[in-house]
Amino acid sequence: MRLPDTQVALLEAASATETKTVAQLADELGEDPAAVTRAAFELKEEGLLDVEEHVAEEVALTEEGDRYRDEGLPERRLYEAALEVGADERPAPIGRLVGAADLDGEAVDIALTNLARKGLGEIDDGAVLVDPDAGDDPEAEALSAVAEGSTGYLDSGVLDRLESRGLLERTETTVRSVTLSDDGVTVLMEGVEAAETVGQVTPELLTSGEWADVEFADYNVEADAGTVAGGREHILRRTANRVKDVLVGMGFREMEGPHADAEFWINDCLFMPQDHPARTHWDQFGLEVPPMESVPEDLLERVEDAHRNGVGEDGDGYHSPWTPEVAKQVDLRGHTTSLSMRHLSGFAAGELEPPQRYFSVEKVYRNDTLDPTHLLEFFQIEGWVMAEELSVRDLMGTFTEFYEQFGITDLEFKPHYNPYTEPSFELFGEHPETGELIEIGNSGIFREEVLSPLGVDGDVMAWGLALERLLMLMYGFEDIRDVHGTLCDLELLRNVEVVH
Ligand code: PHE
Repeated sequence: MRLPDTQVALLEAASATETKTVAQLADELGEDPAAVTRAAFELKEEGLLDVEEHVAEEVALTEEGDRYRDEGLPERRLYEAALEVGADERPAPIGRLVGAADLDGEAVDIALTNLARKGLGEIDDGAVLVDPDAGDDPEAEALSAVAEGSTGYLDSGVLDRLESRGLLERTETTVRSVTLSDDGVTVLMEGVEAAETVGQVTPELLTSGEWADVEFADYNVEADAGTVAGGREHILRRTANRVKDVLVGMGFREMEGPHADAEFWINDCLFMPQDHPARTHWDQFGLEVPPMESVPEDLLERVEDAHRNGVGEDGDGYHSPWTPEVAKQVDLRGHTTSLSMRHLSGFAAGELEPPQRYFSVEKVYRNDTLDPTHLLEFFQIEGWVMAEELSVRDLMGTFTEFYEQFGITDLEFKPHYNPYTEPSFELFGEHPETGELIEIGNSGIFREEVLSPLGVDGDVMAWGLALERLLMLMYGFEDIRDVHGTLCDLELLRNVEVVH
């Protein structure tokens, strides 16, 4: 029989009576384990080898575990120091014991918690009283056993405990063992011939005509292969692109504009008084850069007038201080409604005719406290529709249509307040895992005080939705930091299926 050379080598190295692991054989043959695995499965196909698989657990000490094996577990050191000073009869102050046991920093907490947990002693009023008959310490014994590689007889509860203390790590690997089958033995006795196999067709093989005589290696498409984690578009980016496609499909055009912008576009155009908490309510990041002089003078004057005197017959304005200096100060935008303002000003400039629909999916910056649903920056899905006459029903209908494309059909609306819209609504959706209602956006119909200086004659409904929250509803993430930033879960990002 003629077989590829790796298979012949493997057949000859395998035994009918002794089971050998692939790792052993790879070692013996000086071959790559993946190549031996491949050959083993090929021979199994031919009925010449038996291959058995089982999952083996490997246990190894972490760096901290290894240190404790050398120095002793902190709680044992504290316990022994306590015995030494007679704290089995009279409580001894923690400070003294910590010094005697030479513990510091984190080790002190570790020692105290575990001392109490293991019942080695009691801690009361800053002093420790230990039990002289506390007996053996299975955790300390297990540390040594793991280090010596003899984990077979260890209690899995003790290993769990050490694992949760971060002192050891368990990993699972698939071990494949190989034995020669009866047919394998027969074939070997009859004699096998090694054929040099070619894995890849080369130009030389083709031009020389040699390809016709060589033996090509078979591909085993079922064999395990290493995972290649190559680059991949982040799901946040993919979802952002999908959002863009959906909105374009709904007749919207995309807006662009600066991340660092004048407060004029971020706040003043939105009828947020300069001395109102609303100005800090975004907790924006101010930049130490020269003021933005490109703000159009005539618009600046109209906005100032709206702030000072209001708009329309009943308008009253804020009667509060207003200066162009504040308006020209540059901040990182806390919302992309600044882009909506920039684009809506196209009406006054005669560049836009009604009706119009615009959107952006862009980053915004807020000085929030980091938590599972808040980041210092996130993507906002901004949008606005300008038409002759619009109502809350148009707004709700637009959201229903939009979110339906992402499989979200249980939207809830809550009345809300924004200085620039009236009425205003917050949007909520149900988290698929926790069932909790989470806020996914904010919206409303712009006030006259916003629209009039911008030269808009008609109605404008607008919104800012959080892209990350949409992602949470689509994929069931509970912590936004799984997908964003330095704490992100790489495994999840690599493996998550993109919903289409
Ligand atoms: N700017 C609002 C926010 O960031 C969203 C919004 C935009 C609300 C437009 C109403 C109109 O929450």
